Amino acid sequence: MTVRKLRVFLWLAVVAVAGLSLALVVSDSARERLAGVGGSEGVAAIGGPFSLVDHQGEPVSHADFLGRPTVYFFGFTHCPDVCPTTLHELSAWLQELGPEADRLQVVFVTVDPERDRPEEMARYLQAFDERIVGLTGSPEQVSEMTGNWRVYVRKVPLDEGEGGDYTVDHTASVYLMDSESRFFGTIAFGEADDSAIAKLRRLAQEG
Ligand code: NI
Repeated sequence: MTVRKLRVFLWLAVVAVAGLSLALVVSDSARERLAGVGGSEGVAAIGGPFSLVDHQGEPVSHADFLGRPTVYFFGFTHCPDVCPTTLHELSAWLQELGPEADRLQVVFVTVDPERDRPEEMARYLQAFDERIVGLTGSPEQVSEMTGNWRVYVRKVPLDEGEGGDYTVDHTASVYLMDSESRFFGTIAFGEADDSAIAKLRRLAQEG
């Protein structure tokens, strides 16, 4: 092999490796999006500090939720299907767990802070288990949290004639965090009641 040929060969190798790692990154993020949440290899990175306000308008941070296992669900009050369904199911599961549910904290974090101010969150949550705490904040505060939690959020404009309104695509999984705010698992959208309740019970007992 001449030096020139060797150089070309090395360049091709570099390009191939770069292409391969790009493909891995792309397929990784596509897989995460499909799964709703980072795969098991990303577990350690899910979660982190946040500072927001609750549905009473009181400032809260991650520190307020330490010491007890916490269930986080990200959504928005204008959501037509996934959010009301999930919050309704969560309410039923808490009921089913009985006294064990009191060991859990359940949090609904808006991904639409512009529209979901504390009053709106409070009004919306009246339809669900009263233990569910609503969290909102500035758009920056919320996007910092959703970023750290690997929550997929995408604002989608609605058709004209619907008043320039928008909807928000978002991760539909429920996040389970232990009492030290370490990632414990997820409940998928549409997961069977038995399975979801078993996970919540494990979280309440071990978290
Ligand atoms: Ni939703």
